[in-house]
Amino acid sequence: MMREILVLFLILAGSSDAVVKRWIKYSDYNDADNWGGLNRTPCPTDTINLGAMQPVSVYIQSNLTITELALPMTGEVILGPNVILDFPSNPANVDPSCQGATPGQLAEFQVQTQEWFNLNNWEVYGSLADAQQGDVSKEVGALDIEKIPCSSGGDTTGSYIRDEVLFPENHSYRVNMGTQPLSLQKLNFAGKAYTSTNPFSDFLNTVSGKSQFNPGANRPTVNIGGSCTDVTGCACGNDAMKTVICAAVQCQDRGLQCDNPPTPQGHCCGVCGAVLTIGYGDNFNFQNLESYIRTQYLQQDKYQGVRTILSKSAVSRAGQVQLVLQDDAPGTQNGQTAAAMAQEVRDTLPAAGLGITAVDVQASTKGSGPSGQTGGRMGGGTIAGIVIAVIIVLLIIVLVAFFVRRRSTPLELSLPKMPKMPKMPAFNGKKTLTNEFEMGGATFSNPNFDPNSPDHFSLSYSGVEDLGSSKGFNNPMYDNPVEDNPMYSDTSLSGTMDPASVTTTPPTTPDGDTRDGGIENPIYGVDNLQEVVMDAEC
Ligand SMILES: *[C@@H]1O[C@H](CO)[C@@H](O)[C@H](O)[C@H]1NC(C)=O
Ligand SMILES: *[C@@H]1O[C@H](CO)[C@@H](O)[C@H](O)[C@H]1NC(C)=O
Repeated sequence: MMREILVLFLILAGSSDAVVKRWIKYSDYNDADNWGGLNRTPCPTDTINLGAMQPVSVYIQSNLTITELALPMTGEVILGPNVILDFPSNPANVDPSCQGATPGQLAEFQVQTQEWFNLNNWEVYGSLADAQQGDVSKEVGALDIEKIPCSSGGDTTGSYIRDEVLFPENHSYRVNMGTQPLSLQKLNFAGKAYTSTNPFSDFLNTVSGKSQFNPGANRPTVNIGGSCTDVTGCACGNDAMKTVICAAVQCQDRGLQCDNPPTPQGHCCGVCGAVLTIGYGDNFNFQNLESYIRTQYLQQDKYQGVRTILSKSAVSRAGQVQLVLQDDAPGTQNGQTAAAMAQEVRDTLPAAGLGITAVDVQASTKGSGPSGQTGGRMGGGTIAGIVIAVIIVLLIIVLVAFFVRRRSTPLELSLPKMPKMPKMPAFNGKKTLTNEFEMGGATFSNPNFDPNSPDHFSLSYSGVEDLGSSKGFNNPMYDNPVEDNPMYSDTSLSGTMDPASVTTTPPTTPDGDTRDGGIENPIYGVDNLQEVVMDAEC
């Protein structure tokens, strides 16, 4: 009787537990990594070129003071809320980090394209709210190949996992999705939720989509919608990409301290703990097993800190699931609690009435660190402490000897020299930009360079407006915004764009803070977190 009640409870409580995979690399203006060898974001006196890569999407989060700005020929510049780009006559490097900047220094936006199938570009969370928060302490465990969204090709049978994916809003991206079709359950991109295929493929064909996904190359089909319908569990389906995924992983970096770590299917490296292969027969239900493990084993005090990954592999999915157990014990003890729990699971799970037929366990053994080898009474920590102390004493002796010898030489010679500041490669910035300019890349530049321009202008986000499906950066140089915008065609236009023909707003306040004639921000064009209307799709 108790068992029936328990099983009923488990069925009712069986939540769908969908994981959310969050992309964490941005093509934002404010990220110093995106400025090539400059290793800083641009300073006000720099000559800024956003058109070095095409197409490109650049999100600007903060107010900028700019001397000269070359825009991409194809691509988009997105201004965050309340962002003002100010072009004063005499820009000054007020920021301390810009004190040493040479006026006219070329700052080229050179964001790297990040690979979809690189697990370092993803974080896995238990809910969309956690993923949006991005607090890594709330990340959930996943096999290496499942850190990337499960992308079961063109499968439509419901026997593969479909993941929810988050590209957080208020950022821009540069992603190579590869060429194989991807299949997702839901895609949250730039504050919009895509739940079916067509709206997102429409987006991929916009300038914004082409700039952010597979820039300069063809984009794969991204199937959106559907979910796993197999009650015995679904496989992730990333197995075909395992070699590519594991190429980005160095197992020695994980610093395993146990011996004989088993390697789970779908993982790149061994783990300290245990890998259980669980065979099942009739009446097996994946979610019931998940709940049973949580309530029967993980809640026991002695298994505190044990983490589980329950999965099904596409390779051996007929009649088997895999349970990986790991723990957070430090040093050579790591994995021992998990291994102990594995023994109990092996001995008790088949009798639990869940349709389990067999449990096979592979477990790591206790690490043979310093304590294991000496067998003495000193623990590993004590020995490490002694070793470190000896090294420190030796270092002090060497340093003292060094300085005693140095005393005879002039003092300034013993001072370390400041390293030379790294130099940008020799580059005639102005000329390069001029070439870009003549090829049609729009350049907003300081009116100082053009006597006919107002002596000051600024561009800003001008408010929320629905631009319809072809959302984008309305180039203020054109009266008819989106359609006439050269950024919306992939063909190069020629012609010089004079800053005077920009819809400029002569200063009405000393700091030029006016809001007319600005750039319309595409991201805020529609109500942010609302679902995009689904296309009828059968
Ligand atoms: C930009 O400056 C304006 C005026 O000084 C200010 O109101 C606004 O909040 C600033 N925007 C940001 C994103 O800091
Ligand atoms: C993104 O910007 C919008 C518009 O100002 C704001 O309402 C929202 O809170 C921001 N989202 C995040 C995650 O910062």
